[in-house]
Amino acid sequence: MNKKMKCLSLIPVIAMFAVLGSATTAFADGADVFNDNCAVCHSVEVGVQKLGPSLAGVVGRKSASLADFPYSPAMAAAGLTWTKPQLNNYLTNPQGVVHGTKMLFPGLKNSKERTQLIDYLATLKGP
Ligand code: HEC
Repeated sequence: MNKKMKCLSLIPVIAMFAVLGSATTAFADGADVFNDNCAVCHSVEVGVQKLGPSLAGVVGRKSASLADFPYSPAMAAAGLTWTKPQLNNYLTNPQGVVHGTKMLFPGLKNSKERTQLIDYLATLKGP
């Protein structure tokens, strides 16, 4: 087989991966999960508060610790630290972990998506 033919024989393989990738969200990375589920209420920029507080530097941060965001009494009293395992808990079922939170999000039930999302959150630099 000459070089050109070898190259051509790869095309169906590449095409197959492209189809698989678009047919399932399992390949979506953490930023996509964030954009689909969180971005409507949360910014990833320092100091930008939307309906929810900025998530810049959230991994390792104490709950309700941004001075310029009006947290609910429930979140203000929660006393959590947003470690990766704690975020995994909270994002599975926010109301179940912080009773009375005003974060109206039913939870991200897909554990793989949660892991991808939390790994993405960990890349965001805080103030
Ligand atoms: C409908 C709007 C909305 C959506 C969607 C939403 N949130 Fe929230 N989030 C909020 C609000 C409002 C608060 C403040 C909660 C409170 O004070 O009780 C909050 C709080 C948080 C906190 C606590 C922050 C802190 O400073 O203590 C984290 C972490 C968080 N959200 C992560 C997420 C992630 C990750 C997603 C996507 C999977 C998401 N949220 C989706 C509105 C939302």
